[in-house]
Parts: sequence; structure tokens; C-alpha cells
Amino acid sequence: MTPPETVPTAVVDLVRWRPEWAPSLASAVEASLAELAPYMPWATPTYGLADARTYIDGSIADWDAGTNWNYAIVTRAGEVVGSTGLMTRLGPGVLEIGYWLHTGHAGRGYATTVAQALATVGLAQPGIETVVIRHDAANVASGRVAEKAGFIRIGSVDVADGSGVEVRWERRGAARVPMIATDVVIEHPPTNPADGEEVVEVAVLPVAEAVAFLAPEDLIHADVLRLAAEMGLA
Ligand SMILES: CC(C)(COP(=O)(O)OP(=O)(O)OC[C@H]1O[C@@H](n2cnc3c(N)ncnc32)[C@H](O)[C@@H]1OP(=O)(O)O)[C@@H](O)C(=O)NCCC(=O)NCCS
Repeated sequence: MTPPETVPTAVVDLVRWRPEWAPSLASAVEASLAELAPYMPWATPTYGLADARTYIDGSIADWDAGTNWNYAIVTRAGEVVGSTGLMTRLGPGVLEIGYWLHTGHAGRGYATTVAQALATVGLAQPGIETVVIRHDAANVASGRVAEKAGFIRIGSVDVADGSGVEVRWERRGAARVPMIATDVVIEHPPTNPADGEEVVEVAVLPVAEAVAFLAPEDLIHADVLRLAAEMGLA
């Protein structure tokens, strides 16, 4: 995977973390402790420059190893006002998005813009089908961010250590799902926007050609069609 080192958005830029930003990171955390501490276990009153350096060094190493892609959130004025990233910890095919904002810059839609931008970047990576946001159920603001960024609420689970309830939101990439039908009469443009699905192609094919068309990507439908033909149903 090769996410870009800079992701521009309309209001802030996401830029791969740089060592020289450690002082800005430390002071952003210090200024935001009251808001960060309930949801970020690393945000403690002792957080300082050494912790910021460790985080940035780790982010640079993770980026090079291809495990996580952490970005500073940088205003147009060049001020570091938060952190965000794509993480692989949920396994193959999935990237998780995390974010936090300097309290002095919260409430301006930055996190929503960031989540939208990283969802687009994540879903463009090879093999990635889903991007996920997880948050504590008590963190209503984070849930609003996920919802406004176009994520679908999948559900909630009790956290294994009994520390609370975690809510999961997902956005998925486009998938082609062939459907087979006979005697179709098309009465209007073939779209179904209500549930996000869209008919992108309608082909009228003899059975053998339809099997050949489906087989490379969709062995199940190809087999169903082949079986139907053998049974004299198609
Ligand atoms: C959660 C956080 C990232 C939101 O950042 P932000 O830039 O302020 O987010 P946005 O401005 O894009 O949107 C915030 C939304 O939450 C809402 N919100 C903020 N605080 C809220 C609260 N206490 N209760 C309910 N909604 C709240 C805002 O009203 C807004 O929704 P709206 O546009 O419908 O009014 C930021 O508050 C933060 O860093 N919190 C601490 C760290 C954290 O929780 N990170 C996420 C961990 S999963």
C-alpha cells in the first residue's frame, strides 16, 4: 500500500509526521488533555516532548514498515493541530481510521473532513474493501464525525476488558455484484440509489457467452448458470 505523504483537503492538510513537529505535538496534547484523556489512554498529565518524539519516531518506522500511516493535521497557516492515521490492526482488507483534534481547533468540521479524506485514501489502496471507525459509545462527537463522513453504523460491542461499549462504523468500496435475470423489461434508467446500489451494465447474452463473461470474477453465478443450462432451465 502506498498512501500519499500529503493529503490536501479544503481546510487542512494531512502530512506524514516529521521529527521537527514534536514540540507542536506535545503542546497540542497538553492543551487538549481534558478532552483527550477520557478516550486516549496515552494522554496523561505527564505527556511531554519525549512522548511526542517517541510517537513521531514510531509513526515514521510504521510508515516505512507499511503497518500504519499516521499524519499530522496541519492548518493552512502551517500549525499542527492534531493527528490522524490509517491502521492495519483489524486485519487484511480493512483499514481503521483514528483522529484527534487540538481542543482550540475542535468544532470546525476538521475531523469530519479528515475522516472523509482518509476514507477515500484508504479505499483506494489495493486489497482494501472496508474502512472502519471505532469509538467509545460515550464519545458522541466521534460518532457524529463518522456519520457525517458517510460511515454506516454497524453496531456496538462490550469491550472485552469490561471498560465500556465500543461502536463500529464502516465505509465500503465499490463492489461489482452480477445478477442474473431472464425476460427483463427495462422501464426506466436502471439505478437504485436508495440503498447505494446501482445497475452499471445490462447485457443480453446467450448462456454460453454469459458463463464466459461471469467466470473470471464470479465463479458462483457462472456455475449456477451452467447448472441451469444443463438442467434445461436456461
Ligand atoms: C472527536 C473529535 C475528533 C471531533 O473533532 P472536530 O474537528 O471537533 O469534529 P467536527 O467539527 O468535524 O464534528 C464534531 C461533531 O460532534 C459534535 N459534538 C462535539 N461535541 C459533542 C458532544 N459533547 N456531544 C454531542 N455532539 C458533540 C459537533 O456538534 C459536531 O457535530 P455537528 O456538525 O452535527 O454539530 C475531537 O473532539 C477530539 O479530538 N476529541 C478527543 C479525542 C477523540 O475522542 N478522538 C476520537 C477517538 S475515536
